[in-house]
Amino acid sequence: ARLVVLVSGSGTNLQALLDAVAGRGAAAYGAEVVAVGADRDGIAGLDRARAAGLPVFVCRVRDYPARAEWDAALAEAVAAHEPDLVVSAGFMKILGPRFLARFGGRTVNTHPALLPSFPGTHGVRDALAYGVKVTGCTVHFVDEGVDTGPIIAQGVVEVRPEDDEAALHERIKEVERGLLVDAVGRLARDGYRIEGRKVLIP
Ligand code: GRF
Repeated sequence: ARLVVLVSGSGTNLQALLDAVAGRGAAAYGAEVVAVGADRDGIAGLDRARAAGLPVFVCRVRDYPARAEWDAALAEAVAAHEPDLVVSAGFMKILGPRFLARFGGRTVNTHPALLPSFPGTHGVRDALAYGVKVTGCTVHFVDEGVDTGPIIAQGVVEVRPEDDEAALHERIKEVERGLLVDAVGRLARDGYRIEGRKVLIP
């Protein structure tokens, strides 16, 4: 299966997918990352893609007259690589209706909290501030909401008294990377059906 991965930052989730493909991980699932896209340049995520010899593309919101045009342009840039699955791995923009018209139902996102708790840009900070004893990460399909699509997999991470946001986020990422590779790999290898809020993988 052909994966296009979207990033906005350090790209360690992307790296986990690339390592799995290079090793016996996602490659055993028959998945391959064919391109990496971002909403900004100058991020480590794009350097990781270049180091892997992959095509990259950047779609900046400010380069377009309005959000809808950016949304359409991003969809075009992704479509050029003919993905079976799109993986949003730390991509910090909301994918809009034009994008979802083409890739809804086959776009996966990873979020560093146990949805539906703590959606949005500051899931780790919000969980910490709330005082939860466990948090975690969620891999889900992207729908028109913010972090509201059908859930594919979740992993639990304990919160420690001495945690600050960075420490907790790093501990979450250690679980998240494996969760994402396994979830994406199974979708790619086994196929899936989405029935309401349920994701069925044979
Ligand atoms: C991940 O924890 C992801 O869930 C969140 O941002 C982080 C991105 O990390 N949206 P990286 O860029 O994959 O290292």
